[in-house]
Amino acid sequence: MDLRHCVIPAAGLGTRFLPATKALPKELLPVLDRPVIQWAVEEAVAAGAREMVVVISDGKELIQQHFSPQPALEQLLEQRGKVAELEAVRRSDHLASFVWVRQDRPLGLGHAVLCAAEAVGGLPFMCMLPDDLSYGPVPVLTQLIDAYSEYHTPILALKRVPREQISRYGCAAIAESHGRVHRLSAVVEKPQPQDAPSDLAIMGRYVLTPDIFDALRDTAPGTGSEIQLTDGIGALIGAGAVHGVEFTGELLDVGTPAGWLATNARLALDHPGLSAALRAAMVLVTA
Ligand code: UTP
Repeated sequence: MDLRHCVIPAAGLGTRFLPATKALPKELLPVLDRPVIQWAVEEAVAAGAREMVVVISDGKELIQQHFSPQPALEQLLEQRGKVAELEAVRRSDHLASFVWVRQDRPLGLGHAVLCAAEAVGGLPFMCMLPDDLSYGPVPVLTQLIDAYSEYHTPILALKRVPREQISRYGCAAIAESHGRVHRLSAVVEKPQPQDAPSDLAIMGRYVLTPDIFDALRDTAPGTGSEIQLTDGIGALIGAGAVHGVEFTGELLDVGTPAGWLATNARLALDHPGLSAALRAAMVLVTA
């Protein structure tokens, strides 16, 4: 398939996680044993992406370091016979190839994606927000790729949410449905519950076609004075079809302290090496 790039916008300010993110990019906060962004890259690689186009801003250079070889560290681990640790360090160097793109000012998710235009070229591409961690038997991006190979249109990840929560998300209006795949008639950014055309929220996984870049160039700043990716996608509907997949499994929030904590607990409970320690700690807390 022609989908080799995955755009990962990581230039946001991470204000919901201050002061942890004052110096440390939120994408490097750990979930269990690896940073948030490594979970994202692993999901993209599993879906077939080979080239990560990561959009960063000043102060986020540490993310580049995480995916670069660290010869001194590797030499030390080798000398000390720390085989598993050496393997883990080398794995993060060799996951994929990386292109680093700058977003000079935080003008919104749509603007961040537009910054990746040159790196992606004229090809369709995957896009994912590292703030959400895919959890379930089939990674969410893989489910979108399966739909893309059938429909060859932009594909969005959709989740049903309680009506009163829809104003936190972009919302999809549905023209027709085939099981869990829906053709969209419109998208609305953060509608009030009474104005929302459905309870289907647009989540942070996408397959996009290169016409999104022209649409984003023509998109005026919207909600929060930012250029919204949802508005750019909305402009594509009509010129061609856009589909959404009501994915199975979960996208777990790691972009807020409460979400990050719950996600760590969820994953730790399923982890053979950590589950017993977490359960023992919880017994102590609740005793
Ligand atoms: P968010 O709004 O969820 O993340 O953007 P944020 O801005 O980093 O965090 P808060 O809200 O201040 O706590 C969703 C994704 O889009 C990226 C973010 O890095 C995140 O991955 N983003 C957002 C950009 O790359 N550039 C932007 O201008 C805005």
